[in-house]
Amino acid sequence: MEYVVTTSALTRKFGDFTAVNSLSINIRQGEIYGFLGPNGSGKSTTIRMLCGILEPTSGSGTVLGYDLARDHEKIKQRIGYMSQKFSLYEDLTVYENLNFYAGLYSIPRRERDLRIKEMIAMALLDGRESDLTANLGGGLKQRLALGCAIISRPAILFLDEPTSGVSPTSRRLFFKIIQSLASSGTTVMVTTHFMDEAERCHNIAFISEGALIANDTPENLKKTAVRGCMVEMEIPDAMNRIQFLESLPYVRDCSVHGVMVHTLLDDRRHIPELEKAAGVRAAEITPSLEDVFIALAKQKRRQVQQ
Ligand SMILES: Nc1ncnc2c1ncn2[C@@H]1O[C@H](COP(=O)(O)OP(=O)(O)O)[C@@H](O)[C@H]1O
Ligand SMILES: [Mg+2]
Repeated sequence: MEYVVTTSALTRKFGDFTAVNSLSINIRQGEIYGFLGPNGSGKSTTIRMLCGILEPTSGSGTVLGYDLARDHEKIKQRIGYMSQKFSLYEDLTVYENLNFYAGLYSIPRRERDLRIKEMIAMALLDGRESDLTANLGGGLKQRLALGCAIISRPAILFLDEPTSGVSPTSRRLFFKIIQSLASSGTTVMVTTHFMDEAERCHNIAFISEGALIANDTPENLKKTAVRGCMVEMEIPDAMNRIQFLESLPYVRDCSVHGVMVHTLLDDRRHIPELEKAAGVRAAEITPSLEDVFIALAKQKRRQVQQ
């Protein structure tokens, strides 16, 4: 199996603080690799190391076969990267921004117009070539930023929360574009907080406090990452009842989703007891990815406290 990204005990410290802690991951060619974790867990720091713009403190890794420590200049030229705050020139037009990035990547002049047209089509920006970037809506700006990031046709694309701050429609459209890039062979590593996007990743790595705590397909994570029995109850004043529910000896965890409460039990044989205590029906459910991540983050916190 060919891996386009490998890391082994990759670590980054800032002073005494360990932002990325001995991370070992492998990413296959053509996959969408979801990189998830709470704020401050080290996602952006990892991506910056993989892009060759931040030096690891220790550990090793390769991107497209190049060594992270030795070949970071080569890596920088060969990857696409959209940072959390993607940088477009607001006072340039759509065309001018793309042309600027084409120049940055030294795309030969005779090829530039073709590439720019390709990016305009990919980003659904037809007819907007002469629009000032400042006047574009959030979704269009984001797709233009993607166009700038992949005008060099990189084999791997790193996207750091590309869809935060745009409308749900634009988010879905953006992710469709990502899927079509992946199906034509581009490897995509993407960080996101949106579960519908995580569901569409081929593989997910979940990190907490800089360390990898789960890594599998979305299906397998839902099947195996949460041990116990997950049930759902409708409780309108859920917030006031959580403490009581969590005090029950067979309840491991509760989380509130609107008027629904998801409760993790040691075993399904406790369902009748729970229904009696809560005074409502409790239906067994397959945990959602969100349930999985809540459970994993709590497990990790408990380990740290012990
Ligand atoms: N240049 C830096 N100097 C000091 N601390 C940093 C620096 N960059 C990131 N950090 C810290 O490292 C941790 C991980 O940050 P980051 O990788 O941005 O997390 P995420 O992207 O998952 O939200 C945070 O606690 C952050 O404050
Ligand atoms: Mg980040």
